[in-house]
Amino acid sequence: MVSYSESTVDLSERHLRGGFFEGWAAPPDPSQHLRLLQNSTHVVVARDDTGDVIGFVNALADGVLSAYVPLLEVLPVHRGKGVGTELVRRLLDNLVGLYMVDVMCDPEIRPFYERLGFVAASGAVRRNYEWRNMTSTNPITAARRYRRRARSGQSARVRDCKRDALERPDNASPTRR
Ligand SMILES: CC(C)(COP(=O)(O)OP(=O)(O)OC[C@H]1O[C@@H](n2cnc3c(N)ncnc32)[C@H](O)[C@@H]1OP(=O)(O)O)[C@@H](O)C(=O)NCCC(=O)NCCS
Repeated sequence: MVSYSESTVDLSERHLRGGFFEGWAAPPDPSQHLRLLQNSTHVVVARDDTGDVIGFVNALADGVLSAYVPLLEVLPVHRGKGVGTELVRRLLDNLVGLYMVDVMCDPEIRPFYERLGFVAASGAVRRNYEWRNMTSTNPITAARRYRRRARSGQSARVRDCKRDALERPDNASPTRR
């Protein structure tokens, strides 16, 4: 039996160990996963009988005009049973009244969103492939440290990082990495 919740209050890292971020080169760990859910303005989680999370979706909304949906995932064994649809449906219920709700997705996922009222659009993304090397638990502090390091002569590492980013596979999914 799957239950749905819009709260993270009784969520802990142990509920997020099912193997989310499938296919990501450097997946957020359960602690980072928990924090990103807690920091989102809107969350819907699907949980099994034991309380483990089997699917989730989050949104970042400004409360006036717009919301962005960064992540949606259902664990593989639970796919194809309507969980993803229900997560998005409940999320949209909580975003009623906003002018725009945007999501970036791979082309093969587009029909899934179109069934829920989204229409195709174009977009652009910016990715920081150094993120995986930023070990600080505070991303703002980590970003400052990284910029300081980059400015103070560790240019070879920065060059390597840029090269890695440029050489990433053409098929690297913007939504999965
Ligand atoms: C996309 C995802 C969340 C859908 O979850 P789900 O619980 O399987 O979705 P549903 O069971 O509600 O499926 C609804 C419909 O969408 C279709 N669909 C789901 N995932 C699809 C996919 N990857 N490609 C094409 N169609 C898909 C299903 O076939 C289903 O259609 P049907 O009822 O006619 O068979 C899930 O496949 C997933 O976690 N994928 C990996 C992460 C990902 O790609 N997330 C999206 C990031 S934007």
